[in-house]
Amino acid sequence: MPPSIPWEDLRAAALAASKNAYAPYSNFHVGAAGLVDDGRIITGCNVENVSYGLGLCAECGLVSALHASGGGRLVAVLTVSGSGQPCVPCGRCRQLLLENGGPGCLVDGDGTPVPISELLPGGFDQARLADG
Ligand code: THU
Repeated sequence: MPPSIPWEDLRAAALAASKNAYAPYSNFHVGAAGLVDDGRIITGCNVENVSYGLGLCAECGLVSALHASGGGRLVAVLTVSGSGQPCVPCGRCRQLLLENGGPGCLVDGDGTPVPISELLPGGFDQARLADG
């Protein structure tokens, strides 16, 4: 893995964010941290809703934080549960990470960083809009 990615800082930031999760329904607290291409580290946590289907994943909050704090591209993302265990992004969040980091964005959701293109092969991207 590239030494320039501060994985341990990302892990600590993700774990800290998981403490702010609002997950009274699943009781599964999740924190995500991302390294942006300008060097900043951003975070997100899951936010559930009594209307269960409206719950927001931690990666969703991360992408919101990315844009709210000035935008840029995600270089690396790490997600953990409240106990500090790795947490793989769901299908919807893989698409969010692809959009905001590109296929080379490294994602550690299972203890080993892999490009998002491996987690979402053949993902829908902007090039496909040309087929419309
Ligand atoms: N969750 C995330 O926040 N990120 C993931 O990568 C997987 C699942 C959340 C959604 C829900 O609030 C809880 O975990 C249980 O599924």
